[in-house]
Amino acid sequence: MAGDPGRGEGPGGEILFAAPAAVRSARTAGRARGADGRTPIVRRTEGRGPQRPPADLPFPGHPRKAREPMPFAPAEFTRAMARVPGPVTVATTVDAAGQRWGFTASSFSSLSLSPPLVLICLDKGASTHEAFATTDRFMINILRGEQSDIALRFAKSGVDRFADGDAVPLELGLPGIPEALVRVACSLEQVVDGGDHSILIGRVEATYTGDGAPLIYCDRGFQRLAE
Ligand SMILES: Cc1cc2nc3c(=O)[nH]c(=O)nc-3n(C[C@H](O)[C@H](O)[C@H](O)COP(=O)(O)O)c2cc1C
Repeated sequence: MAGDPGRGEGPGGEILFAAPAAVRSARTAGRARGADGRTPIVRRTEGRGPQRPPADLPFPGHPRKAREPMPFAPAEFTRAMARVPGPVTVATTVDAAGQRWGFTASSFSSLSLSPPLVLICLDKGASTHEAFATTDRFMINILRGEQSDIALRFAKSGVDRFADGDAVPLELGLPGIPEALVRVACSLEQVVDGGDHSILIGRVEATYTGDGAPLIYCDRGFQRLAE
């Protein structure tokens, strides 16, 4: 996918870890068929394995998994995708128990004007996947050039990403970053199978637009636009 920086490879693109077994929660399965067309459809939810990637991956915390045979070197694909600039966003949501979830994502894109839809792609092995695939709403915070510290924190595994207190209830009551460049608050329209990622399609319910310049992710690093 163009907006996702992709993942790194070993020298021969070799498989280093086995994929976790596919599992599906009863909660997710129960919501899989919506007659109204707006109920999220979750085709598959994979459990998260104990694996931790080596440091050569394109961004911290990204799990490496088994993959299907490809007609070209996987490293070629990730090298090509790494050259495609993308926005740096933090997606947030709250589950039924009130727990906040969030992750850094560059795979955000506008999808449709009528109806107003956006999308973001989430690794099926991520610790946040279950929360986002079964939520009824989520927020996308598009970060400013000077907010790379927030991006790194929301990409880090095994920490409380909300500990710094820079996300507070904003549009739709969702955790938002007040100083973000743009916020897009959505109801979850659909969850589409996207290989090892799920494509979360959101129906836009509210937006906020600030002034300034966005943070960009390109060539496996953060870059800033001139203001
Ligand atoms: C700049 C940047 C962009 C990222 N983009 C995505 C993305 O689009 N989708 C995704 O699933 N993970 C993306 N990640 C990785 C997640 O933020 C996170 O590190 C990963 O899901 C592992 O987190 P976990 O510990 O919750 O499993 C990105 C990380 C960085 C630093």
